[in-house]
Amino acid sequence: MFFPRARQCSGVDVVDLPHSDKGPRTGAPIVVLLHGFPLDHAMWAPQARALEAAGVRVVVPDLRGFGKAPSTQGPGSMAAYAEDVLRLADRAGLRNFALAGFSMGGYVAFEVVRRAPPGRIAALALVDTRAEPDTDDARKGRYATIEKVRLDGVHVVADAMLQELLSSAAPAELREQVRATMMAQRPEGIVFALEAMATRPGSLETLQKFAGPVAIVVGEKDEITPPTAARLMMQSAPAATLTIVPRAAHLTTLEKADEVNEAMVAWARALTSSP
Ligand code: MLT
Repeated sequence: MFFPRARQCSGVDVVDLPHSDKGPRTGAPIVVLLHGFPLDHAMWAPQARALEAAGVRVVVPDLRGFGKAPSTQGPGSMAAYAEDVLRLADRAGLRNFALAGFSMGGYVAFEVVRRAPPGRIAALALVDTRAEPDTDDARKGRYATIEKVRLDGVHVVADAMLQELLSSAAPAELREQVRATMMAQRPEGIVFALEAMATRPGSLETLQKFAGPVAIVVGEKDEITPPTAARLMMQSAPAATLTIVPRAAHLTTLEKADEVNEAMVAWARALTSSP
């Protein structure tokens, strides 16, 4: 893990993200995995292992305010998350790379695509995410949650989300592990993310213009970013692959790791090696 400094970049304060970076340094495809809310790098552990075993260089950061990454003052924005990711890519010497985003990580990935020079982002894996912005009701709900988190703490979000992240068939140990990850996050990071998600733009046009390979993965029973949202993304990226993971809710990467690994390894194998 590397540790952070703040600086200005493209008009936003940028922080150095702690991250792991494993796999071959030359000649291999590079995949950066962006986690969801209110989680951290650990939600990608099975995919990081599977991709590395397939010969891919795998970089997994904690996003600003989550895990070991520093928090900053709001208002939260996707621009800040995206500039942090681009700064990390610069520091790690990643000239071009593929991005996989889970849920909020997908929203960040779209913002990175908008901000990176054409071609720098070689491919996208969009896992349990959506390309539409928040509805007015969803946005109001985020601001109401911000007030509750400020008053009562992180458990407000952990309690509300646990039921939606995992299906009723998920093992008790996984449920406990995911709840512990959520409870380990800090209120400032959660508030920053809720503001960033509430104000994010729509990304269907970004996806339509994106030239690289796209893999879309979604849990059959995902109620946060449902299969209808995945099918809408498919309309903007007709060449994408779509994997609907049977009997899985939102957090497919941990609840149905093998199925997600298979889809992501196939996507990564199709990538050409980085120069
Ligand atoms: C996530 O899983 O990252 C978030 O729940 C996504 C969202 O709230 O839109």
